[in-house]
Amino acid sequence: MIKFTIASTKGGVGKTTLTANLGALLADLGLRVLLIDADIQPSLSKYFALTSARPSAGLTDVLLNGEMTASSITATVIPNLDIVVSDDPEGHLSNWLLNRIDRGIRLWRALQSPLVTQAYDCVLIDTQGAIGPVQDAAILAADVLISPITPEVLSAREFRDGTLELLERLEPGGAFGATLGPVKAVIYRQDRTADARLIAEGIRQDFVRLHSRFSILDTVVPHAKAYKEAATLRIPVHRHERRRGGVMPSACVVMHQLAWELIPDLKGVYAGKPQRREHAS
Ligand SMILES: Nc1ncnc2c1ncn2[C@@H]1O[C@H](COP(=O)(O)OP(=O)(O)OP(=O)(O)O)[C@@H](O)[C@H]1O
Ligand SMILES: [Mg+2]
Repeated sequence: MIKFTIASTKGGVGKTTLTANLGALLADLGLRVLLIDADIQPSLSKYFALTSARPSAGLTDVLLNGEMTASSITATVIPNLDIVVSDDPEGHLSNWLLNRIDRGIRLWRALQSPLVTQAYDCVLIDTQGAIGPVQDAAILAADVLISPITPEVLSAREFRDGTLELLERLEPGGAFGATLGPVKAVIYRQDRTADARLIAEGIRQDFVRLHSRFSILDTVVPHAKAYKEAATLRIPVHRHERRRGGVMPSACVVMHQLAWELIPDLKGVYAGKPQRREHAS
């Protein structure tokens, strides 16, 4: 089982879109995938339809109990794709966690449960942009961190000052003695202008030298309306845009490249025709 946390200290960079679409593609590739919505704003929890209209529990139970429970997991309508929903709109969990000495490793420990390790091949955790104990716990729970960077100068600077600083704070031997995974940055929402290409190149050259645990993925996710359209339709983007004309690769191609780069064993495996799962009322 491999655990990815999608994190960035900047809001609105595409974390939830990336988590949802990567999770759904991995599920369509045959992996058993568990999404965890660790953002107070439950965007990931609403991204795909769920098989249960009202989940009985979610992340609150997992963190309060310090272990995974079956009732905290809800199936989505996508086969192989389940989710632990965000159910703490007022942010009580953050305050509660702040007073726990084991706050940094509580989620990591819950994910060691056989309910997770035996039932899933991959866990993907979405986080909120703001720094806090829930975000720390989500970052420390991961084997690998994925960080989208949009190729604007300000966003790149924010990444250096925000995300790298956050990682340094959580460095092994730092806050909780937990192991911090490598960070894979993905250049995200790149448009077709030369400027964006230059900035993306600059990001590659500058940041690789900054931090030894940091690398930039070769896959670049372009700015494309397909991602927004798919979110509105509540379907995975690789199913929504299977092919397209022009020079820009389709969302289906991009998402496969990303999945293959993150999990090289999947290389050459393609998502088959989706099967339907019953939608509960
Ligand atoms: N590749 C893309 N091309 C164009 N638009 C995109 C792309 N990916 C995401 N978007 C759009 O960008 C907006 C922000 O995306 P998203 O909500 O995934 O970001 P986020 O990092 O999760 O935000 P927050 O910090 O608020 O949780 C959404 O409207 C989404 O539809
Ligand atoms: Mg989000």
